[in-house]
Amino acid sequence: MNQITVPQIMASKGRERLAVLTAYDFQTASMLDEAGIDILLVGDSLGNVLYGLPNTLSVTVDDMVRHSMAVSRAAKRALVVADMPFGSFQTSIPVATENAIRLIREGGAHAVKLEGGTHMMETVCRLVEIGIPVMGHVGLTPQSVNQLGGYKIRGIDSQEAEKIFKDAQSIAQAGAFSVVLECIDADVADQITRALNIPTIGIGAGTGCDGEVLVINDVLGYTVLHTPKFVRPLANLRAVITEAAKTYVSNVKGQRK
Ligand code: KIV
Repeated sequence: MNQITVPQIMASKGRERLAVLTAYDFQTASMLDEAGIDILLVGDSLGNVLYGLPNTLSVTVDDMVRHSMAVSRAAKRALVVADMPFGSFQTSIPVATENAIRLIREGGAHAVKLEGGTHMMETVCRLVEIGIPVMGHVGLTPQSVNQLGGYKIRGIDSQEAEKIFKDAQSIAQAGAFSVVLECIDADVADQITRALNIPTIGIGAGTGCDGEVLVINDVLGYTVLHTPKFVRPLANLRAVITEAAKTYVSNVKGQRK
């Protein structure tokens, strides 16, 4: 099975929608890869999903390297993209470069993702220049939760919509191979998708993007956390696991010594 490449992802624009899911561990990543997922995103959402943290801000590069290693070992076909966590790329281009190299060299990822728009252009440019493909991420950027004041939909008013549009354009211009549009107005996402020559990957951004990304635990119904409104779970693993564990408890307790 051939591994999907960055040029193939770029060439998919206008031809085939991209199916993207987060993955954090070897076993789940193997199943998603076998199912035909195009991109496995080792998202810093692992802070919430795996570690029960209130936000993604305390996720470290070491965390991301470890989980990227597990996912990249499983990915026979899917492109593996590792998130650059908060504090790993904002302070300077050399810091960003060093951390992106760790995610590729130690984590085995094929590309990195970073949050931010126009102000991140130089960083994206540098990473691309040295051969590290970059996926952008604009709109609701969870690493800025303290600045944004929560996880609400972005781009409702025209001024903010215009800023998000410019951010996406800048990231594409800087050389990103794709861009995540998170929780933005569907019409704004449509406009951005039409304007850019790289694939847009939406999450809570309507159905007009070139692809869609969701958090795997939300899709599987394998979560004790709040599931966003735009997610339609395709399974209820929480119920399956709880039932199996109850059966186990009752089996063990019913066994004779
Ligand atoms: O961290 C993450 O999982 C993400 C996606 C939700 C886009 O950034």
